[in-house]
Amino acid sequence: MGLFDFLSSKTKPLKEDIDLSILGTDIHSHLIPCVDDGSQSMQESISLLRQLADLGYKKVITTPHLFENSFPEGIEILDEKVLDLRNEAKNNGINIEIEVGCELLLDDDIKGRIKNKQIKSFGDNNILFEIPMSTQVNGLENWLFDLQLEKYNLIIAHPERYLYYSEKKFTELKDRGILFQLNMISLSGYYGKEVQTRAEWMVESNLIDLVGSDCHGQRHIDALKRTLRNPYLKKLIDSGLLQNNKL
Ligand SMILES: [Fe+2]
Repeated sequence: MGLFDFLSSKTKPLKEDIDLSILGTDIHSHLIPCVDDGSQSMQESISLLRQLADLGYKKVITTPHLFENSFPEGIEILDEKVLDLRNEAKNNGINIEIEVGCELLLDDDIKGRIKNKQIKSFGDNNILFEIPMSTQVNGLENWLFDLQLEKYNLIIAHPERYLYYSEKKFTELKDRGILFQLNMISLSGYYGKEVQTRAEWMVESNLIDLVGSDCHGQRHIDALKRTLRNPYLKKLIDSGLLQNNKL
């Protein structure tokens, strides 16, 4: 039995919902309409933003997927699109700050992207990145090094979902100064039992620095609401380790 298997999620749900307003900022979502597999209309984006505001968020950093040829016209287009979203949110009476970053899929083209300024950071040079879900990639350490040379602060999106990584690998990533962003809905089993167990282990091991909704659509808001009585989420928030409200 491995360490990941040792934990179980048999702990009873809380008696009351956790108030997410303590987080302040959601740092992972796909709310710019029609640019990736997230929201597919302005109307949908407005509905999702309204629900995030109702959950207590004061700010969202929305993070469209960025990979080879995802923005052939240049990533600068996101600056225009976030302006439209802000205006529409304001016109609909939604009181939430919106910043745009990206969810960067790491690949061999990192040096080219850096050179051509085709990476969208947020806040103080922060970058949210992901890696392939099903297979381990070669070159990860080099890509991370190239980005850190450029003084980017790196945040790995949903590390609990990379089931091919060992406990040791996560420790190595932490030692490299990578921040860990947990998808909160992992804790209630949205991505399956294995991911849930891994997420619980990360909380127990104090590995998590940030949490996100990874909201692509209504299904993720619904899952988030089902996570609000999760004892591991409470433990994580109570730990004082989360940095969401600094972004
Ligand atoms: Fe995402």
